Amino acid sequence: MTQIRILGGNALSGELPISGAKNAALPLMIASLLTDETLTLRNVPRLADVRQLELILANHGAEIVTLSNGEHGAGQTISFTTKTIKDTCAPYELVSAMRASFWVIGPLLAREHEARVSLPGGCAIGTRPVDFYLDGLSALGAQIEIDEGYVVARVPHGRLVGNKVRFPRVSVGATHVVMMAATLAEGTTIIENAAQEPEIGNLAECLNAMGAKISGIGTNRLIIEGVDRLHGATFDVLPDRIETGTYAMAAAMTGGNVLLRNARAETLRAALDILEHVGAEISEAPDGVRVSGPTDFIRPVDVETQPFPGFPTDLQAQFMALMTRARGISKIRETIFENRFMHVAELARFGAHISIDGQVATVRGVEDLRGAQVMATDLRASVSLVIAGLAARGETIVNRIYHLDRGFERLEEKLSACGASVERIGAAHAD
Ligand code: EPZ
Repeated sequence: MTQIRILGGNALSGELPISGAKNAALPLMIASLLTDETLTLRNVPRLADVRQLELILANHGAEIVTLSNGEHGAGQTISFTTKTIKDTCAPYELVSAMRASFWVIGPLLAREHEARVSLPGGCAIGTRPVDFYLDGLSALGAQIEIDEGYVVARVPHGRLVGNKVRFPRVSVGATHVVMMAATLAEGTTIIENAAQEPEIGNLAECLNAMGAKISGIGTNRLIIEGVDRLHGATFDVLPDRIETGTYAMAAAMTGGNVLLRNARAETLRAALDILEHVGAEISEAPDGVRVSGPTDFIRPVDVETQPFPGFPTDLQAQFMALMTRARGISKIRETIFENRFMHVAELARFGAHISIDGQVATVRGVEDLRGAQVMATDLRASVSLVIAGLAARGETIVNRIYHLDRGFERLEEKLSACGASVERIGAAHAD
């Protein structure tokens, strides 16, 4: 069983390189299915989720070549070529391992006019239905039925047709999928109440580089004029704003001073503003963002998660870890997922005082955290335990670290280079 062992108490100091964003790399990789030419992606992070998606794309016929393996933090360069789609089915075994693999339904329908994709099911953080995706694809002319746990979709008239799609609530995945599908539809699609997350903009820019005609990028109204075909391109994955925010909070929590190299402040303005309220100092440098922790004490601040440009749900657990040592009481409201407080019981093992009432966690800061044995059930919750461990007195052991490997590249190496005492112990395989 592999674990991460942390000896807490060291302030983070130095330079920490930010990798390409997992949540941008995944939809970009999926977009490669839209063309028979080669899409080359640069700055792809080395993560378990990226490897898992490679298996899924290969199952559909993608030839995947790693042109540079991203050693020394440069990010991988990988090319994806799907001359023909050899299978329009995404089976349960592959889709259930990673929810975002459901998103292949968009390109498969657009290019092959049929798809059979396993429903992704619920997950630890909530039920996560796919009704918006299916309503959006139906609006473009797909006929959809559910058969033995699979979404079976086809386009009876041979090509999707542009339409107006208005999502009842902001959904990142549904926006990615309908946008990808609409690029090859006949006529114009307008997506209203579209997600505005930077990863959506990254995908839209990549699709345009492949010959798509998308405007309204960065707004909640995307206009997609369908084209007959897309071609190859070379494109950069955006730096990871969630990794940036995570290490910014670790720096604030330990009273450190780090330059988050490659970070783009405009992709996480809400989180950086909150960190300033907490007492951290943030400054934008030409090559990244510098964060230094409060020199006196951590101030309590109330936070509510919101779609972009609001405070991201993917930083909620990390922020809660930070608030466990604030001088006073803070309230954290989770509005995106109904069950995203699993880290609370684990943070309590460090001596944190947190109570939950529905979607609101009340955190009463304590002077000191003490190291503990902990485990978590999802990616962002796991890293919140690492942050707590960095600031806690004594030894922390984090179990089930395969969650961390899904989304944080070279975590222990990056933190160690900034003076933290973090190491991986036990066998090299996932437990
Ligand atoms: C993306 O998930 C991210 N995943 C998540 O990151 C992130 O937490 C989430 O967006 C919100 O920012 C990737 O980018 C791979 P949604 P997604 O559709 O697209 C409801 C991480 O840790 N909804 O925006 O699945 C849904 O249940 C992950 O990296 C419907 O009701 O999230 C949720 O309450 C975790 N019906 C809300 O909308 C639908 O058809 C927003 O979910 C679709 C969504």
